[in-house]
Amino acid sequence: MEPGQQQAPYLDALCEYARRNPARLHVPGHKGGQGADPGLRHAIGERALSLDIPALTYGVDVGLDPTPFEHAQRLAAEAWGAKRAWFLINGASQGNLAAGLALAHGGEEVVLQRNAHSSTIDALVLSGLRPTFTAPEVDPELGIAHCLTGEALERALAATPGAVGAWVVSPTYFGAVADVRALAAVAHERGVPLIVDEAWGAHLAFHEQLPEHALAAGADLVISSTHKIVGSLTQSAMLHLGHGAGGMIGEDAVDRAVTLTESTSPSALLGASLDAARRHAAVHGRGLLEHTMAALADTREQIRAIDGLDVLDGRLAGRPGVFAYDPLRLAVDVRGVRASGYELAPLLREIDDINLELYGQNVLVAVFGMAERGLPEASRLVSALREAVQRVGIEPGGAQASFAAPPPWGELAMTPREAYLGAQEVVAVARAAGRIAAESLATYPPGIPNVLPGERLTADTLSYVQRTLEQGGSVRGASDRRLRTVRVVVEGRGGSR
Ligand SMILES: Cc1ncc(COP(=O)(O)O)c(C=O)c1O
Repeated sequence: MEPGQQQAPYLDALCEYARRNPARLHVPGHKGGQGADPGLRHAIGERALSLDIPALTYGVDVGLDPTPFEHAQRLAAEAWGAKRAWFLINGASQGNLAAGLALAHGGEEVVLQRNAHSSTIDALVLSGLRPTFTAPEVDPELGIAHCLTGEALERALAATPGAVGAWVVSPTYFGAVADVRALAAVAHERGVPLIVDEAWGAHLAFHEQLPEHALAAGADLVISSTHKIVGSLTQSAMLHLGHGAGGMIGEDAVDRAVTLTESTSPSALLGASLDAARRHAAVHGRGLLEHTMAALADTREQIRAIDGLDVLDGRLAGRPGVFAYDPLRLAVDVRGVRASGYELAPLLREIDDINLELYGQNVLVAVFGMAERGLPEASRLVSALREAVQRVGIEPGGAQASFAAPPPWGELAMTPREAYLGAQEVVAVARAAGRIAAESLATYPPGIPNVLPGERLTADTLSYVQRTLEQGGSVRGASDRRLRTVRVVVEGRGGSR
């Protein structure tokens, strides 16, 4: 660790500003808290409000070079091994939007992992990029999507000679980590940058027993949701440019794209939380992660000892699309009990107010932060799972149930942007086959979008989505969550609605 990592210059600059009791003749109107609603003051405290200052404050983010804000971003770049890091105040979602806009400087086509986050699809709408989708590996037992293989990326790039980038996701919600080195080698062989949505992996840089993080493995642009596991404030995230990206992604293009996608009033509290979280991770991350990993290993053992339950762990590594496993996710395989994940999640809430990050048919996912202490929540989860299984009973042989893969996605008839901006109408699902979708439909499990804007709807896909809903699954992206209707493009007419 570099000695500079002990500092948090941006956080310190905010504290110094508040300490001076300055004349606050600027926004925000609560004036350091005096003008705030007493309920808010009580809830978040005077201190937090006193640090809520606007951008362009002298000595904080304007003034002598480097300003504390620039210094903080440089320390973040150093901590993650990036050429440059940008603080984001609209989450990793903003990182995806900015990545799409930056890529669009180079051309019109991109290769994209099919189960990208919805903000990546929004990036296609914003940038106008035409995607060639490539499927991640779907686990036929667990019914969840893992990562993309180098071979799949190679095929997609070969089919898309005009691609200006390859865009993948790692780790997944469930903790599967891709072979980013192999993916980077494939992309670089074709002269395009590898963009990794590492929203779930900001912590990977801080312990050598964790899977290698994307920048270290050769990624060129990395989207990092710092708030998720490293623990900055919700909505704060970072975008990292790799040292090898030069010539493939322009630093200026990324900079402009970050500016375009953010407010002109970025929250100082969010920025300071990034500066502080970086310091915490760089200085104490190794020790904290060591403790959390050990405690989670113990929790996994306890869950596996419950009849009917299993956990996802390092044993997953080596399956198609899983190079390594991130132990900070606790994914519980519930196929051996007589209830689906959809039924168990509300039961856990009822038993002990257990609130999970995600649940599907076969798997429940609990997320742990970098700095869990003693893991009291993990013990509560284990007890509640024990009681839930007692209530619903076990399903011998349930773990053998296999998962029906979704039908292939439809032809991309227009770009997501054209579909999003084109004239649209809502039609009954019975009349929708053959029409071009104006919205996404993504069934859970396994969470790979079945339909994206611009694709032709097929009868097979529509009935698959309906069957999933009938079986207790869910569909994301649909304006009608029960899929009685679907929003489609009115063909042969330009303009918007
Ligand atoms: C893979 C992936 N990318 C991006 C995001 C967006 O992150 P944020 O909520 O920080 O905007 C998420 C959110 O869950 C995600 O799972």
